[in-house]
Amino acid sequence: MSALGVGVGLRAPHYDYILNHWPAVDWFEIVSENYFVAGGGALQALDRIAEHYPLVMHGVALSIGSSDPLNMTYLAQLKQLAQRIQPRWISDHLCWTGVDGQHMHDLLPLPFTEEALSHVVTRVKQVQDYLGQQILLENISTYLQFEQAQMSEWEFLTEVATRADCLILLDINNIYVNAFNHGFDAREYIAAIPVERVRQFHLAGHLHKETHIIDTHDQVVTHPVWELYRVALQRFGPVATLIEWDAHIPEFTELLAQAELAKKMMEPQMDTAVKPRYDDFS
Ligand SMILES: [Fe+2]
Repeated sequence: MSALGVGVGLRAPHYDYILNHWPAVDWFEIVSENYFVAGGGALQALDRIAEHYPLVMHGVALSIGSSDPLNMTYLAQLKQLAQRIQPRWISDHLCWTGVDGQHMHDLLPLPFTEEALSHVVTRVKQVQDYLGQQILLENISTYLQFEQAQMSEWEFLTEVATRADCLILLDINNIYVNAFNHGFDAREYIAAIPVERVRQFHLAGHLHKETHIIDTHDQVVTHPVWELYRVALQRFGPVATLIEWDAHIPEFTELLAQAELAKKMMEPQMDTAVKPRYDDFS
């Protein structure tokens, strides 16, 4: 793996623009489940894009925290897609998305307990064994906390990654959202995450409702999240960064402008002592 730089999420409204212009973006992140199909236009577009750009796969339906058994049909589809497009890595979320065979189509929070921790760790190991590679798990945005919690969110995330030997996709916007919603210090969170586990960042826009923040992914990255990104770059180095934009999707050029902002912040780091760490991945 080489240093990836800054990527954007691959979204269907942008297929034509990308295939006609081959824009200067470092890489794309796909939503894995969108391509669990036997054929069709989306898969054709993806195959062509995969020839020109590095890709990473980001899933939303692994449901690693659920008490249901792991969905082996789902995992087989994930593995098949990975074999097809050869992503740099595969990620999903540290959450659950349903139980008793019901799918909520939402990323639901886990209680930060020892019991949930050992449950998740066991399942991450099974998934990694099946896929034959480490996966990345992402911290989600949340709007409630459990009274039963025995540790902080950052302790839970760190323990999952360490005990299961998986990697972390650190969503900087989600840290900011949760810090506001639950009243903790975002910088304390970042300072507690082990540097060697973090393989990717997410940046996204949110909606501030004064009493709480909603993680909407429907606008530009906000100023305080850029500030927190700077803090994260200082701690973790120039980690592969992705701009997420999932609703009210803009012209591709506007998305690219956000990626260029991130790149400007990242580049000084790539010229300094941190760089050799990234060369190690080559
Ligand atoms: Fe994210």
